[in-house]
Amino acid sequence: MKHDFNHKAETFDSPKNIFLANLVCQAVEKQIDVLSDKEILDFGGGTGLLSLPLAEQTKSVTLVDISDKMLEQARLKAEQQDIKNIQFLEQNLLAKPLEQEFDLIVVCRVLHHMPDLDATLSLFHQHLIENGQLLLADFTKTEANHHGFDLAELEKQLIEHGFSSVHSQILYSAEDLFQGNYSELFLTVAQKSLA
Ligand SMILES: C[S@@+](CC[C@H](N)C(=O)[O-])C[C@H]1O[C@@H](n2cnc3c(N)ncnc32)[C@H](O)[C@@H]1O
Repeated sequence: MKHDFNHKAETFDSPKNIFLANLVCQAVEKQIDVLSDKEILDFGGGTGLLSLPLAEQTKSVTLVDISDKMLEQARLKAEQQDIKNIQFLEQNLLAKPLEQEFDLIVVCRVLHHMPDLDATLSLFHQHLIENGQLLLADFTKTEANHHGFDLAELEKQLIEHGFSSVHSQILYSAEDLFQGNYSELFLTVAQKSLA
């Protein structure tokens, strides 16, 4: 996986990837009333297509990724844009979690790459403050495409992992959207419940 994205890093910022990240970024902005005081974890943040615009509006962003080349692109852009409230971490949190908890976790088009959904949802729960919010964007499972997510199933799993106020919206749909097939880009928002 790491090597897949290392290979794609220099060309990752394609018009399609920029367009999809912008859609998600705008939806995140709509969901969160006050962004300015938030500490955000961008899990699998890649070349920073979400992290960089979010950093301009928030207290801080921690971009975690396992691909050093994707991170290198993100770092370069942050330098060019003089964005300083962003931290870059090359780390597999499943193997080595952080000690920090965040107000928000954004996960854009990463979940379908994760080998263990249960472990990943637990990881997100563990890295959120009480009442912190998880914002998951990915592709739906369709007749043509079995690699995406069934939203009802995903929402159920989030509730089983201790999240509440779980709701989803479709941000965009198109032919050829995901792995060459029709799919929908969704955003699911979930709040870490009080214990
Ligand atoms: C399709 S890209 C999405 C990048 C970014 N979130 C965006 O929307 O532009 C998927 C990213 O997930 C990262 N990734 C895959 N598995 C990961 C893991 N276990 N931990 C952190 N990042 C991971 C990849 O290296 C890659 O940068």
